[in-house]
Amino acid sequence: MYEVFQIVHSYWAYLVLLVLTLATFNAIIKTLNKSSYAAKDFRISLFTLIVSHLQLLIGLVLYFVQPYFVAFSEQGMGAVMKDSTLRLYLVEHPLTMIIAIVLITIGYSKHKKKLSSTKKFRTIAIFYALALILVLSRIPWDAWF
Ligand code: HEM
Repeated sequence: MYEVFQIVHSYWAYLVLLVLTLATFNAIIKTLNKSSYAAKDFRISLFTLIVSHLQLLIGLVLYFVQPYFVAFSEQGMGAVMKDSTLRLYLVEHPLTMIIAIVLITIGYSKHKKKLSSTKKFRTIAIFYALALILVLSRIPWDAWF
């Protein structure tokens, strides 16, 4: 069970990074160019929302089945926070990714309510770019590659 979720979470992360980067740069470029908002732009932002929410669900399951999880009961919160690997997998990575996905969700729902194309693109550009920075900051790069 752990191995399956770990592999799926690991590969799904490529898709999350790909679509989040695409949606962010698409919105930044089209804000600057003052382009008009088209169905394709809506699909990119929606697809990013769906892909990241699926990663959240996979991550939540993985969180409780990962071998590190027992460290909470075996070593206690203090020891977890002192160990950089445990802190990354048990606290920093999940919390940061949840905040990033909340930002994507807020950005997506706010952009839908905006009436002008530039405002729609600007909303996506800001929220998705912040989410992308957070995601990039807390990926366990050493373990991933
Ligand atoms: C945008 C969302 C996320 C991305 C892009 C992401 C990406 C990654 C990557 C690349 C790894 C390393 C995989 C490997 O070692 O091959 C990883 C590990 C992990 N992630 Fe995430 N993650 C996300 C969200 C979450 C969330 C929301 C949780 C939990 C609530 C979570 C829990 C974990 C855990 C527990 C591991 C360690 C798995 C292990 O090797 O034992 N992730 N994540």
